[in-house]
Amino acid sequence: MEITNVMEYEAIAKEKLPKMVYDYYASGAEDQWTLQENRNAFSRILFRPRILIDVSKIDMTTSILGFNISMPIMIAPTAMLKMAHPEGEYAVARAASAAGTIMTLSSWATSNVEEVASTGPGIRFFQLYVMKDRNVVAQLVRRAERAGFKAIALTVDTPRLGRREADIKNRFNLPPHFTLKNFEGLDLGKMDKADDSGLSSYVSSQVDQSLSWKDVKWLQTITHLPILLKGVLTAEDARLAVEAGVSGIIVSNHGARQLDYVPATIMALEEVVKAVQGRIPVFVDGGIRRGTDVFKALALGASGIFVGRPAVFSLAAHGEAGVRKVLQMLRDEFELTMALSGCRSLKEITRDRILAPWDSPRIAPRL
Ligand code: GLV
Repeated sequence: MEITNVMEYEAIAKEKLPKMVYDYYASGAEDQWTLQENRNAFSRILFRPRILIDVSKIDMTTSILGFNISMPIMIAPTAMLKMAHPEGEYAVARAASAAGTIMTLSSWATSNVEEVASTGPGIRFFQLYVMKDRNVVAQLVRRAERAGFKAIALTVDTPRLGRREADIKNRFNLPPHFTLKNFEGLDLGKMDKADDSGLSSYVSSQVDQSLSWKDVKWLQTITHLPILLKGVLTAEDARLAVEAGVSGIIVSNHGARQLDYVPATIMALEEVVKAVQGRIPVFVDGGIRRGTDVFKALALGASGIFVGRPAVFSLAAHGEAGVRKVLQMLRDEFELTMALSGCRSLKEITRDRILAPWDSPRIAPRL
Protein backbone atom coordinates (compact mmCIF):
# COMPACT_ATOMS: atom_id res chain seq x y z
CA MET A 1 0.00 0.00 0.00
CA GLU A 2 1.24 3.46 -0.81
CA ILE A 3 2.73 5.46 2.04
CA THR A 4 1.09 8.87 2.13
CA ASN A 5 2.51 10.41 5.29
CA VAL A 6 5.50 10.20 7.61
CA MET A 7 3.55 8.68 10.51
CA GLU A 8 2.75 5.52 8.57
CA TYR A 9 6.33 4.32 8.76
CA GLU A 10 6.15 3.75 12.50
CA ALA A 11 3.70 0.83 12.20
CA ILE A 12 5.86 -0.82 9.53
CA ALA A 13 8.97 -0.38 11.66
CA LYS A 14 7.18 -1.85 14.65
CA GLU A 15 6.27 -4.93 12.67
CA LYS A 16 9.76 -5.40 11.24
CA LEU A 17 12.00 -4.68 14.21
CA PRO A 18 12.73 -6.83 17.25
CA LYS A 19 10.69 -5.53 20.18
CA MET A 20 13.76 -4.40 22.11
CA VAL A 21 14.94 -2.30 19.17
CA TYR A 22 11.56 -0.78 18.31
CA ASP A 23 10.92 0.09 21.96
CA TYR A 24 14.32 1.76 22.25
CA TYR A 25 13.59 4.09 19.32
CA ALA A 26 9.95 4.71 20.14
CA SER A 27 10.10 5.27 23.89
CA GLY A 28 9.98 8.46 25.84
CA ALA A 29 10.84 8.88 29.49
CA GLU A 30 8.64 7.70 32.38
CA ASP A 31 4.95 8.60 31.81
CA GLN A 32 5.75 9.73 28.27
CA TRP A 33 3.72 12.89 28.80
CA THR A 34 6.22 15.00 26.93
CA LEU A 35 6.31 12.40 24.14
CA GLN A 36 2.59 12.90 23.52
CA GLU A 37 2.83 16.64 24.08
CA ASN A 38 5.59 17.08 21.48
CA ARG A 39 2.94 16.06 18.93
CA ASN A 40 -0.20 17.42 20.55
CA ALA A 41 1.16 20.92 20.97
CA PHE A 42 1.36 21.38 17.20
CA SER A 43 -2.37 20.83 16.92
CA ARG A 44 -3.04 23.86 19.14
CA ILE A 45 -1.29 26.21 16.73
CA LEU A 46 -3.48 27.36 13.88
CA PHE A 47 -2.86 29.19 10.63
CA ARG A 48 -3.76 32.70 9.51
CA PRO A 49 -3.32 32.20 5.78
CA ARG A 50 -3.14 35.13 3.36
CA ILE A 51 -4.87 34.88 0.00
CA LEU A 52 -4.44 36.14 -3.54
CA ILE A 53 -0.67 36.06 -3.45
CA ASP A 54 1.13 34.70 -6.51
CA VAL A 55 2.59 31.43 -5.21
CA SER A 56 3.47 29.95 -8.59
CA LYS A 57 7.13 30.00 -7.52
CA ILE A 58 8.15 28.88 -4.07
CA ASP A 59 11.69 28.98 -2.74
CA MET A 60 12.46 26.73 0.23
CA THR A 61 16.23 27.06 0.10
CA THR A 62 18.13 28.39 3.06
CA SER A 63 21.59 28.79 4.49
CA ILE A 64 22.51 27.14 7.79
CA LEU A 65 25.77 28.33 9.39
CA GLY A 66 26.77 29.46 5.90
CA PHE A 67 25.92 26.15 4.19
CA ASN A 68 23.27 26.26 1.50
CA ILE A 69 20.62 23.58 1.72
CA SER A 70 17.49 22.82 -0.26
CA MET A 71 15.00 23.17 2.61
CA PRO A 72 14.97 23.96 6.34
CA ILE A 73 14.37 20.29 7.19
CA MET A 74 17.42 18.41 8.54
CA ILE A 75 18.19 15.08 10.16
CA ALA A 76 18.64 14.90 13.93
CA PRO A 77 21.16 12.55 15.51
CA THR A 78 19.76 9.16 16.50
CA ALA A 79 21.87 6.39 17.95
CA MET A 80 22.81 2.91 16.73
CA LEU A 81 21.11 2.91 13.35
CA LYS A 82 22.39 -0.47 12.19
CA MET A 83 19.91 -1.95 14.65
CA ALA A 84 17.22 -0.44 12.42
CA HIS A 85 18.68 -1.49 9.08
CA PRO A 86 21.95 -3.08 7.89
CA GLU A 87 22.83 0.11 5.97
CA GLY A 88 22.21 2.18 9.11
CA GLU A 89 23.94 5.55 9.15
CA TYR A 90 25.16 5.16 5.54
CA ALA A 91 21.62 5.04 4.24
CA VAL A 92 20.61 8.11 6.21
CA ALA A 93 23.72 10.01 5.10
CA ARG A 94 23.02 9.20 1.45
CA ALA A 95 19.34 10.08 1.70
CA ALA A 96 20.11 13.44 3.34
CA SER A 97 22.72 14.21 0.73
CA ALA A 98 20.35 13.29 -2.12
CA ALA A 99 17.75 15.64 -0.63
CA GLY A 100 20.32 18.44 -0.42
CA THR A 101 20.12 18.69 3.34
CA ILE A 102 22.13 18.10 6.50
CA MET A 103 22.52 14.89 8.46
CA THR A 104 23.68 14.92 12.07
CA LEU A 105 25.64 11.81 13.05
CA SER A 106 25.30 10.53 16.60
CA SER A 107 28.34 9.95 18.82
CA TRP A 108 26.75 6.57 19.51
CA ALA A 109 26.51 5.59 15.86
CA THR A 110 27.19 2.08 14.64
CA SER A 111 29.29 3.59 11.81
CA ASN A 112 32.15 5.95 12.52
CA VAL A 113 32.78 9.45 11.24
CA GLU A 114 35.23 8.28 8.56
CA GLU A 115 32.85 5.62 7.26
CA VAL A 116 29.96 8.06 7.04
CA ALA A 117 32.17 10.62 5.29
CA SER A 118 33.13 7.97 2.73
CA THR A 119 29.51 7.54 1.59
CA GLY A 120 30.01 10.60 -0.63
CA PRO A 121 29.62 14.34 -0.53
CA GLY A 122 27.17 15.93 1.87
CA ILE A 123 26.95 18.53 4.60
CA ARG A 124 27.12 16.74 7.93
CA PHE A 125 27.13 17.73 11.57
CA PHE A 126 28.49 15.63 14.41
CA GLN A 127 26.54 15.20 17.66
CA LEU A 128 28.83 15.06 20.66
CA TYR A 129 28.46 13.49 24.06
CA VAL A 130 31.23 14.64 26.35
CA MET A 131 32.73 11.56 27.91
CA LYS A 132 34.65 11.62 31.19
CA ASP A 133 37.87 10.97 29.31
CA ARG A 134 38.58 14.29 27.62
CA ASN A 135 41.33 12.80 25.46
CA VAL A 136 38.70 10.58 23.88
CA VAL A 137 36.51 13.63 23.25
CA ALA A 138 39.35 15.69 21.80
CA GLN A 139 40.39 12.83 19.51
CA LEU A 140 36.85 12.28 18.30
CA VAL A 141 36.27 15.95 17.58
CA ARG A 142 39.51 16.06 15.61
CA ARG A 143 38.45 12.99 13.63
CA ALA A 144 35.07 14.56 12.86
CA GLU A 145 36.82 17.72 11.65
CA ARG A 146 39.20 15.76 9.46
CA ALA A 147 36.34 13.71 8.04
CA GLY A 148 34.74 16.98 6.89
CA PHE A 149 31.94 17.40 9.42
CA LYS A 150 30.85 21.04 9.50
CA ALA A 151 29.56 21.61 13.03
CA ILE A 152 29.36 20.03 16.46
CA ALA A 153 25.93 19.58 18.03
CA LEU A 154 26.78 19.37 21.70
CA THR A 155 24.11 17.52 23.66
CA VAL A 156 23.62 19.27 27.00
CA ASP A 157 20.54 17.54 28.41
CA THR A 158 22.04 14.19 29.27
CA PRO A 159 24.22 14.20 32.42
CA ARG A 160 22.36 10.94 33.08
CA LEU A 161 20.05 8.98 30.83
CA GLY A 162 16.30 9.52 31.23
CA ARG A 163 14.28 6.67 32.66
CA ARG A 164 12.85 4.74 29.74
CA GLU A 165 10.90 1.95 31.27
CA ALA A 166 10.62 -0.23 28.17
CA ASP A 167 14.42 -0.31 27.97
CA ILE A 168 14.62 -1.37 31.60
CA LYS A 169 12.06 -4.13 31.08
CA ASN A 170 13.78 -5.30 27.88
CA ARG A 171 17.27 -5.06 29.44
CA PHE A 172 18.14 -2.97 26.41
CA ASN A 173 21.63 -3.58 25.11
CA LEU A 174 23.44 -3.05 21.82
CA PRO A 175 23.31 -6.46 20.11
CA PRO A 176 26.81 -8.02 20.29
CA HIS A 177 27.50 -7.92 16.53
CA PHE A 178 27.37 -4.10 16.59
CA THR A 179 29.78 -1.60 18.09
CA LEU A 180 29.66 2.07 18.92
CA LYS A 181 32.07 2.57 16.07
CA ASN A 182 33.33 6.01 17.01
CA PHE A 183 34.76 4.53 20.19
CA GLU A 184 36.06 1.28 18.75
CA GLY A 185 39.58 0.58 19.91
CA LEU A 186 39.14 2.89 22.89
CA ASP A 187 37.44 0.19 24.94
CA LEU A 188 34.27 2.27 24.88
CA GLY A 189 32.69 0.57 21.89
CA LYS A 190 30.65 -1.99 23.81
CA MET A 191 27.92 -1.73 26.36
CA ASP A 192 28.24 -4.05 29.31
CA LYS A 193 25.28 -6.24 30.14
CA ALA A 194 23.29 -4.63 32.91
CA ASP A 195 20.29 -5.65 34.93
CA ASP A 196 18.43 -2.56 33.79
CA SER A 197 18.99 -0.55 30.59
CA GLY A 198 22.49 -1.22 29.25
CA LEU A 199 22.56 2.27 27.74
CA SER A 200 21.69 3.87 31.05
CA SER A 201 24.61 2.06 32.72
CA TYR A 202 26.87 3.04 29.82
CA VAL A 203 25.95 6.69 30.28
CA SER A 204 26.52 6.51 34.06
CA SER A 205 29.97 5.07 33.59
CA GLN A 206 31.18 7.05 30.56
CA VAL A 207 29.37 10.39 30.18
CA ASP A 208 30.69 13.32 32.20
CA GLN A 209 28.01 14.37 34.66
CA SER A 210 30.04 17.40 35.69
CA LEU A 211 29.68 19.04 32.27
CA SER A 212 29.15 22.80 32.69
CA TRP A 213 29.44 26.12 30.83
CA LYS A 214 33.21 26.12 31.30
CA ASP A 215 33.36 22.93 29.22
CA VAL A 216 31.54 24.70 26.40
CA LYS A 217 34.43 27.17 26.49
CA TRP A 218 36.89 24.27 26.57
CA LEU A 219 35.27 22.71 23.52
CA GLN A 220 35.74 26.00 21.67
CA THR A 221 39.47 25.83 22.40
CA ILE A 222 39.86 22.39 20.82
CA THR A 223 37.88 22.94 17.63
CA HIS A 224 37.32 25.60 15.02
CA LEU A 225 33.96 24.08 14.11
CA PRO A 226 30.82 25.99 15.01
CA ILE A 227 29.06 24.59 18.09
CA LEU A 228 25.30 24.18 18.37
CA LEU A 229 23.96 23.62 21.89
CA LYS A 230 21.35 20.90 21.71
CA GLY A 231 18.87 20.67 24.55
CA VAL A 232 18.09 24.27 25.49
CA LEU A 233 14.53 24.86 26.75
CA THR A 234 14.60 28.17 28.64
CA ALA A 235 15.32 31.86 28.03
CA GLU A 236 17.87 31.82 30.88
CA ASP A 237 19.98 29.14 29.23
CA ALA A 238 19.53 30.70 25.81
CA ARG A 239 21.10 33.94 27.11
CA LEU A 240 23.97 31.99 28.69
CA ALA A 241 24.47 30.16 25.41
CA VAL A 242 24.82 33.46 23.55
CA GLU A 243 27.27 34.71 26.20
CA ALA A 244 29.25 31.47 25.87
CA GLY A 245 29.74 32.28 22.20
CA VAL A 246 28.09 29.25 20.63
CA SER A 247 26.99 29.46 17.01
CA GLY A 248 23.44 28.26 17.47
CA ILE A 249 20.86 26.62 19.71
CA ILE A 250 18.74 23.56 19.16
CA VAL A 251 15.58 23.73 21.23
CA SER A 252 15.21 20.07 22.07
CA ASN A 253 13.87 17.79 24.76
CA HIS A 254 15.79 14.86 23.30
CA GLY A 255 12.71 13.39 21.66
CA ALA A 256 11.03 13.39 25.10
CA ARG A 257 13.53 10.77 26.27
CA GLN A 258 15.14 12.70 29.13
CA LEU A 259 13.12 14.74 31.66
CA ASP A 260 9.42 13.98 31.41
CA TYR A 261 6.97 16.90 31.86
CA VAL A 262 9.14 19.44 30.14
CA PRO A 263 7.07 21.34 27.59
CA ALA A 264 6.79 20.35 23.99
CA THR A 265 9.67 21.95 22.12
CA ILE A 266 7.26 23.94 19.93
CA MET A 267 5.93 25.54 23.16
CA ALA A 268 9.44 26.43 24.40
CA LEU A 269 10.72 27.69 21.05
CA GLU A 270 9.43 31.26 21.13
CA GLU A 271 10.80 31.92 24.63
CA VAL A 272 14.25 30.95 23.40
CA VAL A 273 13.92 32.90 20.15
CA LYS A 274 12.96 36.06 22.05
CA ALA A 275 15.85 35.68 24.51
CA VAL A 276 18.38 35.24 21.72
CA GLN A 277 17.22 38.42 19.91
CA GLY A 278 18.51 37.26 16.55
CA ARG A 279 22.13 37.01 17.69
CA ILE A 280 22.43 33.33 16.78
CA PRO A 281 20.12 30.97 14.88
CA VAL A 282 17.67 28.83 16.82
CA PHE A 283 16.62 25.39 15.60
CA VAL A 284 14.07 22.97 16.96
CA ASP A 285 13.41 19.23 17.01
CA GLY A 286 10.71 17.09 18.61
CA GLY A 287 7.47 15.74 17.21
CA ILE A 288 7.76 17.17 13.71
CA ARG A 289 5.83 14.85 11.37
CA ARG A 290 4.14 17.23 8.91
CA GLY A 291 5.04 20.08 6.63
CA THR A 292 2.58 22.17 8.63
CA ASP A 293 4.72 21.51 11.73
CA VAL A 294 7.79 22.81 9.90
CA PHE A 295 5.92 25.96 8.92
CA LYS A 296 4.74 26.55 12.51
CA ALA A 297 8.29 26.19 13.82
CA LEU A 298 9.61 28.71 11.30
CA ALA A 299 6.77 31.13 12.06
CA LEU A 300 7.79 30.96 15.74
CA GLY A 301 11.30 31.96 14.79
CA ALA A 302 13.20 28.74 14.08
CA SER A 303 15.80 28.89 11.31
CA GLY A 304 15.29 25.21 10.61
CA ILE A 305 14.09 21.96 12.10
CA PHE A 306 15.45 18.47 12.68
CA VAL A 307 13.62 15.15 12.47
CA GLY A 308 14.75 12.08 14.39
CA ARG A 309 12.26 9.21 14.63
CA PRO A 310 10.82 9.77 11.12
CA ALA A 311 14.27 8.95 9.72
CA VAL A 312 14.70 5.93 12.01
CA PHE A 313 11.30 4.38 11.28
CA SER A 314 11.50 4.95 7.53
CA LEU A 315 15.02 3.50 7.56
CA ALA A 316 13.77 0.42 9.40
CA ALA A 317 10.89 0.07 6.95
CA HIS A 318 12.53 0.67 3.58
CA GLY A 319 16.21 1.56 4.07
CA GLU A 320 17.62 4.52 2.15
CA ALA A 321 14.52 4.71 -0.07
CA GLY A 322 12.37 5.11 3.03
CA VAL A 323 14.44 7.99 4.39
CA ARG A 324 14.45 9.67 0.97
CA LYS A 325 10.69 9.36 0.84
CA VAL A 326 10.27 10.86 4.31
CA LEU A 327 12.37 13.86 3.33
CA GLN A 328 10.44 14.23 0.07
CA MET A 329 7.06 14.00 1.78
CA LEU A 330 8.03 16.62 4.37
CA ARG A 331 9.36 18.83 1.61
CA ASP A 332 6.19 18.51 -0.48
CA GLU A 333 3.91 19.11 2.49
CA PHE A 334 5.95 22.13 3.58
CA GLU A 335 5.84 23.59 0.09
CA LEU A 336 2.08 23.08 -0.04
CA THR A 337 1.69 24.76 3.36
CA MET A 338 3.68 27.73 2.12
CA ALA A 339 1.52 27.98 -1.00
CA LEU A 340 -1.75 27.74 0.91
CA SER A 341 -0.55 30.35 3.43
CA GLY A 342 0.65 32.77 0.80
CA CYS A 343 4.39 32.50 1.46
CA ARG A 344 6.89 32.41 -1.41
CA SER A 345 10.09 32.26 0.57
CA LEU A 346 11.13 31.40 4.11
CA LYS A 347 11.41 35.05 5.08
CA GLU A 348 7.71 35.46 4.32
CA ILE A 349 6.86 32.89 7.01
CA THR A 350 6.25 35.55 9.62
CA ARG A 351 4.76 35.31 13.10
CA ASP A 352 1.40 36.70 11.97
CA ARG A 353 0.78 33.66 9.76
CA ILE A 354 -0.01 31.57 12.84
CA LEU A 355 -2.15 31.84 15.93
CA ALA A 356 -0.70 30.28 19.09
CA PRO A 357 -2.70 29.56 22.25
CA TRP A 358 -0.78 32.24 24.14
CA ASP A 359 -1.59 34.98 21.61
CA SER A 360 -4.19 37.52 22.60
CA PRO A 361 -7.38 37.00 20.62
CA ARG A 362 -7.46 39.01 17.42
CA ILE A 363 -11.20 38.97 17.09
CA ALA A 364 -12.76 41.25 19.69
CA PRO A 365 -15.23 39.41 21.89
CA ARG A 366 -18.85 40.51 21.33
CA LEU A 367 -20.04 42.72 24.16
C1 GLV B 1 20.44 8.61 22.70
O1 GLV B 1 20.83 9.73 22.61
C2 GLV B 1 19.20 8.25 23.28
O2 GLV B 1 18.44 9.15 23.63
O3 GLV B 1 18.92 7.04 23.42
